[in-house]
Amino acid sequence: MFKITPTQPDINDKFIKHDRKMLTQIYGSEDVTPYWIADMDFPIASPISQAMQQLVSRETYSYEFDSKTVFESISMWNKQRHNLALNPEYFVQVPGVLSAIALLIREFTQEGEGVLIQTPVYHQFRRLIESAGRKAIDNTLKIDNDRYVIDFEGFEKQLQSGDVKMVLLCNPHNPVGRVWTKAELEQLVAIAKKYQTIIISDEVHADIIFEGSTFTSISELDYDNTLTIIGSPAKNFGLNSISNGYIYSDNQILRDKIKATTVSMSLDHGNAFTTYATIAAYQHGAQWFGAFLDYTQHTRNWIIEFMARELPQVKTFVPEGTNQIWFDFTGLGLASAELTALLTQEAKLALTPGTWFGEMDENYYRMNFASPLEKIQASFALLKSAIGQIEH
Ligand SMILES: Cc1ncc(COP(=O)(O)O)c(C=O)c1O
Repeated sequence: MFKITPTQPDINDKFIKHDRKMLTQIYGSEDVTPYWIADMDFPIASPISQAMQQLVSRETYSYEFDSKTVFESISMWNKQRHNLALNPEYFVQVPGVLSAIALLIREFTQEGEGVLIQTPVYHQFRRLIESAGRKAIDNTLKIDNDRYVIDFEGFEKQLQSGDVKMVLLCNPHNPVGRVWTKAELEQLVAIAKKYQTIIISDEVHADIIFEGSTFTSISELDYDNTLTIIGSPAKNFGLNSISNGYIYSDNQILRDKIKATTVSMSLDHGNAFTTYATIAAYQHGAQWFGAFLDYTQHTRNWIIEFMARELPQVKTFVPEGTNQIWFDFTGLGLASAELTALLTQEAKLALTPGTWFGEMDENYYRMNFASPLEKIQASFALLKSAIGQIEH
């Protein structure tokens, strides 16, 4: 079952999220509680541990590939969780979600061409686009009634200009926590169809969906001639350093093109640990994942209620999915350096600055709340007292 106890502190020390040097570099001190990188502070599901322990005790690692069972397991999981029918034959495996995006950018756009992103968005998108010699074109999300929405007018204008060759969608959207509705996706697809623009949808957070929201994959919509989706068990099962990325498309021409590249570069095989962990997660992880999602939702609700009751001057955007929560500290009326000092030195919080995601306003921060609730409660108590002090 899902264990609340965090992983051992001595193990944590080796993780980027808890790395003292990095914390000092970014936050000016190692004495901060890390809520920045998007991975969880919990031990993984025991069926996954058992699968890997069996591999360790086997002590033999001859060549062994089983992508077929991996794809069947992912399909089965998606059918059960989202009633999403995915054909196991339509997957292409790559080392990770980011390498999938990097590969698709190179495969379907030329140097100098534009890839549209909707900022604020997961910061690696821009890096992948620019490091491939492509142009990142922003279509900034709008805030409507304290909820982020797509600027469809801006979106169409950008596509109409002819500069955009690819749309890179994030669904659910990291960092603002929106789970795009079917109606929103249909509107987006209708515009992309009009200009024949390919959409790449990063759906790595697809399973972390809270009550009241429903996940819709782009693959369910009627745009199969230029469509690709990506998933991985990294986020929902805490397998960040040992998971692959999975590209999916109904379109055989696109799929064959991607497959030819991955095969020619020998990128299409997972190692045994990744393979067995993924199969165990999707075949035997449902109970653990259900408990993890309940716990995370409870934590999300606790944060929202706490902020509304104790710190209403900070705007909290309610995440519909993902383990990320997005705050706007404008209401504190602090200069940027004062806000940083309050968060890191007084409240001892290592949050991710919104500017990393292309947010121009320095008052925005993202917090990863996949941590034990008591730890989060202690952090918010510190935040409340730090804010109380500046207001007196
Ligand atoms: C939207 C999104 N895509 C991709 C990744 C990284 O995926 P991977 O590590 O499997 O390449 C993350 C990690 O936080 C993410 O939030």
